Amino acid sequence: MIKFNLYKEGGLKVHFVKKDQELPSEIKEYLEKKKFAYKFKESLYLPSFEEESEIFMGLGDDELDLEDVRNLFFELGNILRDNQEHEVEIKMPELSICNKKTIMAAYEGLRQGEYEFTKKTDVKEKKADFELTVNYTAFRGPEAKLREGLDKIENIMDGVFLARDLVNERANVIYPDTLAKIAKEKLEEAGVKVTVYEEDEIEKIGMKAFLRVAAGATNRPRLIVMEYKNADTEKVALVGKGLTYDSGGYNIKSPSGMNYMHCDMGGAGTVIGTIYALAKNKAKTNIVGVVAACENMISGQAYKSGDVIDSMKGLTIEVANTDAEGRITLADAVHYATNNLGAEKIIDLATLTGAVTIALGEVYTGAVTNNEDFYKEVLEAGKLAGEKMWAFPYDEDYKKLNKSEVADIKNTSGRQAGSVTAGLFVGEFVKENTPWVHLDIAATAYRDKKAGYLPKNATGIHVKTLNNLLDPTDC
Ligand code: BES
Ligand code: MN
Ligand code: ZN
Repeated sequence: MIKFNLYKEGGLKVHFVKKDQELPSEIKEYLEKKKFAYKFKESLYLPSFEEESEIFMGLGDDELDLEDVRNLFFELGNILRDNQEHEVEIKMPELSICNKKTIMAAYEGLRQGEYEFTKKTDVKEKKADFELTVNYTAFRGPEAKLREGLDKIENIMDGVFLARDLVNERANVIYPDTLAKIAKEKLEEAGVKVTVYEEDEIEKIGMKAFLRVAAGATNRPRLIVMEYKNADTEKVALVGKGLTYDSGGYNIKSPSGMNYMHCDMGGAGTVIGTIYALAKNKAKTNIVGVVAACENMISGQAYKSGDVIDSMKGLTIEVANTDAEGRITLADAVHYATNNLGAEKIIDLATLTGAVTIALGEVYTGAVTNNEDFYKEVLEAGKLAGEKMWAFPYDEDYKKLNKSEVADIKNTSGRQAGSVTAGLFVGEFVKENTPWVHLDIAATAYRDKKAGYLPKNATGIHVKTLNNLLDPTDC
């Protein structure tokens, strides 16, 4: 829990220091004695019995950007929590970035350190229960603007944490029906219209491909449609892959590949978290979110390797591999969003391919797009958020790999360029001439390792990016 006071003093003093900075000579000498090198994020914690404790933090030599500020404050938050320091006074150094964005990044860094997902019963104090009062004393910016920024980033982080919780939660708890219920409850309270379609209605809509993927599971599918309109601007669709569990189907996964496949609704998590934040911030935007939620399971009803199935668009699909199921569900979802819901632009997010981990690791999200201008906007929004992406080539020669001998298209052509062909498969079902960006978040939505403020496991990746894109922050 963070309380952020503006224009107030008191508490442990945090000193951000640079090498060439003027400091009282006794402090300079002390830091020297302690071999303090003024490196970025380097810290020296000086606990005190009677007076307030102090922390020195190095700023390094380079100009700080927003991501540096996040990292700096994440580090600071960890020191405070580890040492049970509950009140701090912070004087931020001047940055070339505007005060509002700086303070938002500072708050975000502190808040990032509060995230935790655990089902352990013996946790003494939840990180989020640690009470921290921040007295922020350095200013140029008008108070109302800074406060506005703080409120905004708080809602965005609530969206990020919601996405993380949904994705970290296991498949015995989150399955299509419960995912739909949580989305409805959370989003309606924030002012979003949520419609949940059950199987008979999905059938009426004509999502034949989606229903084939869902066929094997006892937990039945749900189509979740989330509408948020607070401006007469162009309608943007956010479509999230919503496999609440992916066993692989008859092309079954290996045990090690299967046991974290509750993460396969990472795209859905991001879409729900994003719309939650946008609505809480009363963003002036016009969004429709679509999640075709199901499980990929094995049973006598399940679809089989080699099947040729229909789709909502009317294209026939050869199921060359039942484990390439996400793109099949997305085929109907993106078609529905652009043809039936009237979206003029579309972004889909999906934990789609293992191949993207091989190509880019957990550092960059892999992208495919049919529109360079739209992609650039998404890319820039991502840069501001510290969420990186890299576009694969959009090339007709890759599309040829998806040709089937028996059907209009096949769902995989094997290992070569796996992330490109997967993205292009989805793109085939987007209404023609609709700007489209596909983000393959298989590696970035659910991490093997923590990295800076990003935890291991669910990250809520691109909730921040999409908020920057759809609800930009002014200075
Ligand atoms: N959900 C997986 C992709 C995935 C892999 C997500 C690792 C998160 C971590 C997807 O449905 C899948 O199984 N893809 C296959 C495609 C292949 C059969 C063409 C893959 O990547 O192996
Ligand atoms: Mn799969
Ligand atoms: Zn999958």
